[in-house]
Amino acid sequence: MSTTAELLTEGTERLRSAGSETARLDAELLLGDAIGVGRTVILAHPDAPVGVDAAGAYRVAIERRVTGEPVAYIRGLKEFHGLAFHVDPRALIPRPETERLVEISVDEVMHRLGASGHRAGSPPIRVADVGTGSGAIAVALAVELRRRRASEAVDILAIDVSEEALGLARENAVGHAVADRVGFACADLLPGGPDGADGGDATRPFEVIVANLPYVRHDAMPSLPVATSFEPVLALDGGPDGLAVIERLLGRLPDGLAADGVALLEIGADQEDAILALVAAVLPGWSCAVERDLAGLPRVARIAR
Ligand SMILES: C[S@@+](CC[C@H](N)C(=O)[O-])C[C@H]1O[C@@H](n2cnc3c(N)ncnc32)[C@H](O)[C@@H]1O
Repeated sequence: MSTTAELLTEGTERLRSAGSETARLDAELLLGDAIGVGRTVILAHPDAPVGVDAAGAYRVAIERRVTGEPVAYIRGLKEFHGLAFHVDPRALIPRPETERLVEISVDEVMHRLGASGHRAGSPPIRVADVGTGSGAIAVALAVELRRRRASEAVDILAIDVSEEALGLARENAVGHAVADRVGFACADLLPGGPDGADGGDATRPFEVIVANLPYVRHDAMPSLPVATSFEPVLALDGGPDGLAVIERLLGRLPDGLAADGVALLEIGADQEDAILALVAAVLPGWSCAVERDLAGLPRVARIAR
């Protein structure tokens, strides 16, 4: 029987020879999952014998990683905003930079609720997460509002054009016990499109629209890391300039956003000038300010009338 240390060395070398830059970490995570314990337990017990079944499962996982498949898909798990999300190829793996969008959204909603966290006599604040994918933003927002005892004052609608992604988002909402706080809609950007076919309530615009839509330039797609080739193209490809989907959403804001509403849109670190120009062209007279992430990079466009 191999020990944990021996399997870690074997897996790390296999991944390193396949070109992985995170070989040791990947091996630790995958071995932990195969045994059913956390990474720290593995590291604390280098001489522990590993059963044949667990060692076999680990070697299968290592070979999947060798093909370039993301560790998160192999594990079926990704931590985002301190929460464990189920992930699989139905949707994009949530990225750490999107946590900034969640923080800004929580602050925005809490600011609108005021000190009490409630709005006595007023309808709940209506929030849309457009392009919800795994549900990362909508679920993290709902969990954070519950923690602040503000859940009842907010309605969150998680929207995606992909039914598959919405299935995953629903599972994550159930997993974090917020399925009663988050609604789901399959729609192109916002419900209540021109034909009304998706059943949206076009008469009640959103006060806060949050979106991490695809923003990779089409010609940059082939140069993305191999792991991203396992993720849905629909989640990444933002068209010729990377902003095609976002531009269409901007065109929907005059009807979809409440008069005093705000749209918070994640952008690429090199898209600050482009988003400012796009908002000026599509929404003349509206404001657009770009907020930065912890690394000082442009990350979230804040758009309002
Ligand atoms: C970059 S992923 C973001 C997923 C998730 N919000 C996150 O931050 O991890 C973009 C998502 O937008 C969805 N999407 C792309 N075009 C859309 C459209 N026209 N209407 C609604 N959703 C769209 C994709 O299916 C994908 O789930």
